Amino acid sequence: MKVFLNKRIPTIGMQLLHHKDIELILPNKDELSREEWLSYCQKSDAILSVGKVNLDRDFFEQCPNIKAIALYSVGYDHVDIAEATARKVALSNTPDVLSHATADTAFLLMQMTARKASFNLEKVKKGGWSTHFNPLAHLGQELHGKTIGIFGLGRIGYEMAKQCKAAFNMKIIYHNRSRNENAERELQATYVSFETLLQTADVISIHANYTPKEHYLFNKDTFAKMKSNALLINTARGGFIRESDLYDALVNGVIFGAGLDVTEQEPLPVNSPLLELENINIFPHIGSATEQAREGMAKVAAENIVAFIEGKPMPTLVNPEIYS
Ligand code: DGY
Repeated sequence: MKVFLNKRIPTIGMQLLHHKDIELILPNKDELSREEWLSYCQKSDAILSVGKVNLDRDFFEQCPNIKAIALYSVGYDHVDIAEATARKVALSNTPDVLSHATADTAFLLMQMTARKASFNLEKVKKGGWSTHFNPLAHLGQELHGKTIGIFGLGRIGYEMAKQCKAAFNMKIIYHNRSRNENAERELQATYVSFETLLQTADVISIHANYTPKEHYLFNKDTFAKMKSNALLINTARGGFIRESDLYDALVNGVIFGAGLDVTEQEPLPVNSPLLELENINIFPHIGSATEQAREGMAKVAAENIVAFIEGKPMPTLVNPEIYS
């Protein structure tokens, strides 16, 4: 069968794709236009999709030949799952293997935001390290014994909560679609309403799956309910936060700071007003960017393709309903 892979992935995945029943289609350039992408897909039976190409209804209409999609990501908010399922297209993602890396990123952003790390580094780089000691200038927040509020306590949220507890003995509260009994037992995490999460947490870290229902869930009204010393960390999806409201909240001291690995528009435009602020730290969506996580993702995504080729269910299938 023909499998379209739009970008090279770590060796372990490439080796798995060297399979007697796979004819791999790999373009000789990295960035493809939508038209080029579609034309490769139209020649293929399955795709291993690297990056955030929109797999929307238009894609499924134009590529009715595609029978399986292995995503090289854990998130699948860029896929029209209902359409895939209606057409019995198997869809898989890469859970677990990037949980540590993404939680590490959230933890790093939390500490950077607590101590205004990017602002301080910029100050040193620009020669602004003053000889005058000012006991009141640019003070940070300590995290010991504070309350971390996890919004979306799945695999990544669990790892973040675990690190916060181990490092700073933070109290863990969480809001989730369903209760996480393991976290309640192992980490003494307490389930709270969304309102309580907003009002009580010193740090809110977003780890939920993004759907359009949660678009701009963090906005002017929600920021107004948060504590003025609160940090907001987002390593999930940019659509959760209305950035213009976040800007106002940060400028006016409604909340203390924010650490973002994801933004509404990616790449974040270089003229974004957020970049002018002292109380923000922004990464270019590097949550899974470790050798270990990317190798794990390559292995899982390639194993999903191989399973499909061999007529087996994909091990990390997102839409098992296709078999009902
Ligand atoms: C994921 O795997 O969903 C990460 O956010 C990278 O896109």
